[in-house]
Amino acid sequence: MRIDVVTIFPEYLAPLDLSLIGRARRDGLLDLRLHDLRDSAHDRHRTVDDTPYGGGAGMVMKPQPWAEALDSVVASGEEGARPRLVVPGPGGVPFTQAIAHELAAEPWLAFACGRYEGIDERVYEHAAQDLALRVDVLSLGDYVLNGGEVAVLAVVEAVARLLPGVIGNAESLVEESHEDGLLEYPVYTKPAQWTSAHGVTRAVPPVLLSGDHAAIAEWRHQQRLERTAARRPDLLHASQRAGALTDLDLAVATRADAAELLTLTRACWAQEFARYGLFGPGTATVEATAAELQEWTTWTFRAAGRLVASVRGRLDPEDPTTWQIGRLMVAPDLQGRGLGRELLAFGEGQAPPGTAAYWLNTGAASERSLRIYRRAGYRVRPGQGAHPGTVDLVKRAAR
Ligand code: 6GU
Repeated sequence: MRIDVVTIFPEYLAPLDLSLIGRARRDGLLDLRLHDLRDSAHDRHRTVDDTPYGGGAGMVMKPQPWAEALDSVVASGEEGARPRLVVPGPGGVPFTQAIAHELAAEPWLAFACGRYEGIDERVYEHAAQDLALRVDVLSLGDYVLNGGEVAVLAVVEAVARLLPGVIGNAESLVEESHEDGLLEYPVYTKPAQWTSAHGVTRAVPPVLLSGDHAAIAEWRHQQRLERTAARRPDLLHASQRAGALTDLDLAVATRADAAELLTLTRACWAQEFARYGLFGPGTATVEATAAELQEWTTWTFRAAGRLVASVRGRLDPEDPTTWQIGRLMVAPDLQGRGLGRELLAFGEGQAPPGTAAYWLNTGAASERSLRIYRRAGYRVRPGQGAHPGTVDLVKRAAR
């Protein structure tokens, strides 16, 4: 991924040389380029700001240096390539893990760090209209920073760690706060009994030493719910409110849904398609999608008529005690709020009585899907999955 940052304080971004992000840059996974906005200001004092029209406190960043800096970033790319432009600011859309995933799927990002009272509004119009950039104003939260640089540090770190290969142990991405709409459970390490300098001895919760994996998973889930209720009740309500599966219109898919299902498939699996050429041009057709509706029962979930989620299931043609679940899809803009988890539970719930196991197949490198499945109790079967580059996952059915 390429990232360009335009700022009047390039030194502010020095931490991006450190730790995992620094290593990702040295390994060539991240091509990060810093630009000094003042290089685009040509008066003797390299002025980038001026007083606001209409009066008021503070200074506003001038349009000319910004336009020139952005023009030059765009011109430095391949013919026709365009970065997605992120402008950090307290007046932006709240930055979330779902947006981090969205940005991590882009080949090229550019960040424009504002200072003072902000950037002349015509710069946004220039970027969107003359340079044809998608422009997002993102905020870290409801408080005010002096400029966008600290926000860029935060956003770049949140995005870069999602890039394949940046975090050595992809497992550590598996169970995290905000990945499925709940906060993380508390964690403990050795010793099992720890005595502080104050002479108080504290034990690790016994269930964690029990070796009973089902009991541990249950305890952790309970802790997550309690912690989320205590610290972030808004998250619980969000997952129960708009967008929750029960609020969507459920139907069994027919031929008439095939084109929309294909569109949703493409939106959900763009990265996987690119990565291992799954469903290459020949197979990803409306015809093929419609044909598969004959072999699977496919359920569609709609919000105000729009297809936003789908899952399919069938008994394994070779083993009628195994229920196969597939094409678990949530529209990208609705990901990160627990819908995938609900959808999987729904898919399992469609299995007929007598089902002994659930079965899934996913890309071996599809961290996001794998983390949802693992968390729901699925385990990867050793060896290759049903298709090249994929793994099979299984879970015993509790019936
Ligand atoms: Cl992204 N920028 C600034 N200047 N202040 C903020 C912010 C961003 N997010 C919260 N406060």
